[in-house]
Amino acid sequence: MKKIISIIIFGLFGYVSFSQNKLSDTFNLMPWPQEITKSNTTFKIDEKLTIFINGKDATERVNKSSVQFLRRLANKTGVFIDEGFPTKNKNASIEINFHSVSNLTTESDESYSLNIDDNKITINAKTDVGAIRGLETLLQLVNFNKKGYYFEGVSITDFPRFVWRGLMIDVARHFQPVAVIKRNLDAMASVKLNVFHWHLTDDQGFRVESKVFPRLQEVATDGLFYTQEQIKDVVKYASNLGIRVVPEFDVPGHASAILAAYPELGSKEGYEYSVERFSGVFHPTLNPAKEVTYLFLETLFTEIAPLFPDEYFHIGGDENEGKHWDENIEIQEFKKKHNLNTNHDLQTFFNIKLEKILKKLGKKLMGWDEILTPSTPTTAVIHSWRGKQEGLKQSTLIEAAKKGYQTVLSNGYYIDRVQSVEKHYNVDPIGNTVLTKEERKRILGAEATMWSELVTPLTIDSRIWPRTAAIAERFWSNKKVNDVNNMQKRLKVVTFQLEELGITHLKNKDVILRNISNSQDIHALKTLTNICEPLKIYSRNKGGTEYKTFSPFTLFADACTPDATDAKAFNKAVVSFLANKSKENQTKLIAFFDLWINNHTKFQKINNNPKTDVLEPLSSNLALLSSILKTGLISGKLSTNNYKKVLKLINKLEKPIADTELVITSKLKKLLVNYKK
Ligand code: ACM
Repeated sequence: MKKIISIIIFGLFGYVSFSQNKLSDTFNLMPWPQEITKSNTTFKIDEKLTIFINGKDATERVNKSSVQFLRRLANKTGVFIDEGFPTKNKNASIEINFHSVSNLTTESDESYSLNIDDNKITINAKTDVGAIRGLETLLQLVNFNKKGYYFEGVSITDFPRFVWRGLMIDVARHFQPVAVIKRNLDAMASVKLNVFHWHLTDDQGFRVESKVFPRLQEVATDGLFYTQEQIKDVVKYASNLGIRVVPEFDVPGHASAILAAYPELGSKEGYEYSVERFSGVFHPTLNPAKEVTYLFLETLFTEIAPLFPDEYFHIGGDENEGKHWDENIEIQEFKKKHNLNTNHDLQTFFNIKLEKILKKLGKKLMGWDEILTPSTPTTAVIHSWRGKQEGLKQSTLIEAAKKGYQTVLSNGYYIDRVQSVEKHYNVDPIGNTVLTKEERKRILGAEATMWSELVTPLTIDSRIWPRTAAIAERFWSNKKVNDVNNMQKRLKVVTFQLEELGITHLKNKDVILRNISNSQDIHALKTLTNICEPLKIYSRNKGGTEYKTFSPFTLFADACTPDATDAKAFNKAVVSFLANKSKENQTKLIAFFDLWINNHTKFQKINNNPKTDVLEPLSSNLALLSSILKTGLISGKLSTNNYKKVLKLINKLEKPIADTELVITSKLKKLLVNYKK
């Protein structure tokens, strides 16, 4: 009997994973749904396509998403759909059914089912948000042949693994206008992300209009901030996409901008506070020993909090080194009086006061993981960003969940570190940690973080996308959906879908290159961007001192992106060639060498300026190396002299050029070793 049961169980799982793998070869859904089966149907997309919304109330959310769905579908297919708005006719070709309007909380249901038959498409959901998640899936199922466009026939049952699937955008270091935020919200919704964490204040700017404290926009910004009307507009826009907005006001550290406006709240007497122009961790800190600080924050939060209907309110709390606290005698006395032994204890005292203020405003305090101390009330939400800390047995995420806190993970999803998509995709928020049901429930989910020290509206999309689409899959899909090659295949399609939504990650490369070359032919430069990546993990801006907020971010490194396409393809081709020296594998490598040899001829035709001239050694050394290796590949041998020459060239090419690295050098070395006698 046991054997029969195990055969059935094995058979069942075998079937599920088999069908999943098979279908993810065929379809390019991202995030991959929880359950999907293929039917032998196809739904033809023609001008007669209509949508009927069968909801409890006519909701703005489903209505708007349906209208956008029709526009996006028409744009994608070129079909002149007759009915550009949802119809009242119950016999419509697409029927959307849902029971209730979501109030957008961490408890809200986002599940849906989608069924595509020859003549009818049905989306069923508990809430309107579930319904719009289903519409996004449907758009990813558009396919075509010579005769026309159609939806693939499938049946899907889907729901998220985590209730909190976020993207944080820092608008303090570099302000991002409303249009940038809105296009990124559209992109977030397209991959089913549901939390926009808006990092609104930092040393470099306070980006929200305050009518009570007008110096916050007069002094604490460079004139770039959101009016309260703009904030309401963005929050409404996000809500219509089923996205919650969690604001962050970073205190008591990261407070240079606030203190430039209101120095009397600072911890160091006589200090010349000013809005910070560099990146890094700075000393200006609010004074936790003064009642006026709490009065200021209570008044400010009372004014600002109602703009954000979400229950969660992020107070930052990160990277306060307490240097100015140590230098202030009154603060030292305050610590003694309140039995606060360390600055950490003092910050917890400050946080507890804030927690009470926020509670009165109906808000739950959230903060970066520095706020996790023994006396922090478990009503606080811990945002884990530093991973495993000294003295802790496990990451702050797990530690916090085990101690009774709700918690969200960002460690592993710092997309501003410009690392590869697979690096982030392979980070599972929970991994193999064994948790009780309650502990698991307290792990709300995770967020990718887009810190903006090195990005402007011109480049931010290329630092967020397409990698965040793969991260969104990690947050939504089953943990077992983890085949990197398959993800890469699907991401290649999704990256163009993001472009359809107005995301500029692909097209702005050309814009920057035209600027670099002063409007000359950009082909040679573009070829170089396809094998170079910006320096990673903050090494582009060591110590935060090379780039100021107003430095140019229109350089070669800004045109380059993580996951450089040709580099990925070349590195793969080297691995294939070394495993099997077939003619076909050899031809692939030779095609790359020819590309780089010819590219240098094109490069030489550019009338150089200092921005392009720095790239000359990269272009010429690469061409020289390519011609030697090409000859070596064809003849099957390399003289000792040429071997040494190539090694020397690789060593030169390994050094950063124009804040980028050539990401094919380690594979070039592997190829070279192949010739070692
Ligand atoms: C952080 O990255 N300082 C939260």
